[in-house]
Amino acid sequence: MSQLIDGKKISAQVKEAVKQEVATLKQQGIPVGLAVVLVGDDPASKVYVGSKKRTCEELGIHSEEYLLPASTTEEELLELVKKLNQSTTVNGILVQLPLPKQINEETILNAIDPIKDVDAFHPYNVGKIMIGDFDFLPCTPAGIMDLIASTGVDLTGKQCVVIGRSNIVGKPMAMLMLHQNGTVTICHSKTQNLKEITSKADVLIAAVGKANFVTADMVKPGAVVIDVGMNRLENGKLCGDVKYDEVQEAAGYLTPVPGGVGPMTIATLMRNTVTAAKLQHKRNQK
Ligand code: GUN
Repeated sequence: MSQLIDGKKISAQVKEAVKQEVATLKQQGIPVGLAVVLVGDDPASKVYVGSKKRTCEELGIHSEEYLLPASTTEEELLELVKKLNQSTTVNGILVQLPLPKQINEETILNAIDPIKDVDAFHPYNVGKIMIGDFDFLPCTPAGIMDLIASTGVDLTGKQCVVIGRSNIVGKPMAMLMLHQNGTVTICHSKTQNLKEITSKADVLIAAVGKANFVTADMVKPGAVVIDVGMNRLENGKLCGDVKYDEVQEAAGYLTPVPGGVGPMTIATLMRNTVTAAKLQHKRNQK
């Protein structure tokens, strides 16, 4: 029977530390602000954006929400990003992905000032992560690293397997585990003999986007299993990428959905926003 990794509890600790830091910065006359931009009305994105706003309020972070219609053009969104780059009340800019198809995501992400890029999606920040000299880490992978750290498992020399190769999770996740001396394998939809690879993993990250994809026979007994999935079933229930009931019997540690990775992503976003505010303050002092 595996041990539950409690993302709710660990994220609460991160948020408490952020809250105290925000209060200290405020006393020094350094306000902290985040702008969240949502284009269109994707229901899942709306939920994420709402909880980001609520968490800002909870921690004393100024938040600005920009809800734009699905018909917004690339030029209009670029205008807003440029305005937010210049804004003195906004330290962090998050443009919720995915964007409607008339807007090129890369064009938008490239337009965000890297010092306000709290998602760490700008090529400048992606490159810094690759080198291992970074200001921001992408929220979901950084949150997962905190969850892994909470188990006490040291990644040095361990087989670490990521299923999924997205820019948001899979690729940066692999890089962060490599920085901690893991032996990392990235699997994806074209991978052959997937089960053979995953069943050797000491740490398995499931970022597939398919409900119940990871079954007990794919998991090494005692492994740390992190479920990044957020799949909405037909009955409205939220479900991860891991078949929880059976993998729970095999894994050593397992994250639940909800209450695992999700809360950590938001907590890390808040931490990144504070980092952004401090970096900008330092730059402005020069
Ligand atoms: N869509 C899904 N995850 C994320 C994220 O971490 N950041 C942004 N901006 N969009 C997302």
